[in-house]
Amino acid sequence: MSSNTGHAVVEKNVGLMAILILIVVSFGGLAQIVPLFFVKDTTEPVAGLKPYSALQLEGRDVYIREGCYGCHSQMIRPFRAETERYGHYSVAGEFVYDHPFQWGSKRTGPDLARVGGRYSNDWHRVHLINPRDVVPESNMPGYPWLAEAVLDGGDTAAKMTTMQVLGVPYTDEEIAKGADEVKGKTEMDALIAYLQNLGTAIKTQR
Ligand code: HEC
Repeated sequence: MSSNTGHAVVEKNVGLMAILILIVVSFGGLAQIVPLFFVKDTTEPVAGLKPYSALQLEGRDVYIREGCYGCHSQMIRPFRAETERYGHYSVAGEFVYDHPFQWGSKRTGPDLARVGGRYSNDWHRVHLINPRDVVPESNMPGYPWLAEAVLDGGDTAAKMTTMQVLGVPYTDEEIAKGADEVKGKTEMDALIAYLQNLGTAIKTQR
């Protein structure tokens, strides 16, 4: 083969070869990633999934701010050991209104994907203030200040509008009422409202 073919040029130029390899590999990546944006399973909400209420949305922000995801995942994998403990495995359509989703993988504590409805609001309140009051061997930290921090709803509407831009179907009316819905509630109320909603779109038997 003569040495001035295109192939010879590429083989003798490492920089060019690296760039071409990147292009080829990225096609493989695109072939895997791009279709996910169009597959119904991953883009359509499961039946019964509702956008977070204003209060739940504020609670979700508390969850993120306090770093609860550092110890709790929200992703039940499709294995028997998981489904027997937590309930139906998680499906993509449950998370289409989550921006960003809180799947995670670190499980110092249990997965919370279906914790909604498992305990009473009072249980959560006691548990969040001092987990050891209800689970003596718990090493989860307490979050007593959440019960003191009162929400003023100042940026609730802005948060909802941002979600709307990202595709969450809030009506303008819901956004307008957002601030009133959270005003006077504590961060603890909001967080519990968020937790009680987790994973409830799918009916599970446990
Ligand atoms: C240092 C790790 C850690 C952090 C941070 C943490 N948790 Fe936990 N969590 C645990 C552990 C361990 C348990 C299991 C013992 C217990 O119930 O307290 C648990 C249990 C729970 C449970 C009960 C779950 C069940 O199915 O029984 C809930 C709800 C919960 N945590 C919510 C939260 C929230 C909300 C936050 C953030 C405000 C948070 N956790 C932060 C470790 C943590």
